[in-house]
Amino acid sequence: MHDARDPLRGPLGRLTRARRLLDEAERVLVLTGAGISAESGVPTFRDEMEGLWSRFRPEELATPQAFARDPRLVWAWYEWRREQLRTCRPNAAHRALARRLAAAPEGRRLYTQNVDGLHDRAHDELACPDGDAEGARPRPLHGDIFRVRCSRCAWHDRGLDPVDASAVDTLPRCPRCEALVRPAVVWFGEALDPEVLEGAVEHAQNADACLVVGTSAVVQPAASLPRIVLQAGGAVVEVNPQPTPLSSMATVRIAGAAGAVLPELLD
Ligand code: OAD
Repeated sequence: MHDARDPLRGPLGRLTRARRLLDEAERVLVLTGAGISAESGVPTFRDEMEGLWSRFRPEELATPQAFARDPRLVWAWYEWRREQLRTCRPNAAHRALARRLAAAPEGRRLYTQNVDGLHDRAHDELACPDGDAEGARPRPLHGDIFRVRCSRCAWHDRGLDPVDASAVDTLPRCPRCEALVRPAVVWFGEALDPEVLEGAVEHAQNADACLVVGTSAVVQPAASLPRIVLQAGGAVVEVNPQPTPLSSMATVRIAGAAGAVLPELLD
């Protein structure tokens, strides 16, 4: 009988259904967004009070035009976020996903919209023998805030050192062509790495199930991945404390925080 007091835990409850869907699926696409890092202390973008886009304007900070207009301001904002992230650690949700993917990487892929590197850190902390298996490595859709690239030529590198954004003259310059170096993230109006995106779409078209965690599911093209899975006949499990445009289409929606739900769902 369904447990009306706790619909997540009853035998026919959502957690049980979701776990079964994910266990039985041969090919799984996991899509994560800023919400999976919220419990690590990383601000999301669209939450009403604390969301970054309720305090800052995307077009002034996260577009190529903004960087051309005021590179110092853009770098100051990114360095502020990088500074916050240096003290953040992966949480129970990142770790549960890393464990599950390392244990059963075959047919599974994790795509993240996050640039915070916390999935990678959870993966690296596992230090497991199968850690380099194809399905185990997180795939960033929007780049990596701790990488840098040239704003003019193709040069790119790891960019762990703090950036001095006190003046344009102190900003980092490309060792090849002397143009300004920028964060290696995807800004509004820019295309995603076509290889990563094509791989994600191909995997979505053939996935039996999609696990969507902590994303408002409004930014394209990432938001279309679960919809592609649904159109191809696969199931979608959504984990998010708030409803999203995807919720009414999801096969199972679990209204909860990622750090509490994912260990129960995946371990
Ligand atoms: P958003 O800030 O749009 O959405 C975060 C989602 O996480 C919301 O739906 C919250 O309800 C949910 N959430 C909050 N706390 C949570 C928790 N503890 N557990 C699970 N979910 C939680 O972030 P994204 O959807 O990732 O792009 O945003 C997508 C893109 O928009 C970002 O990659 C970024 C941004 O502009 C670029 O910068 C290009």
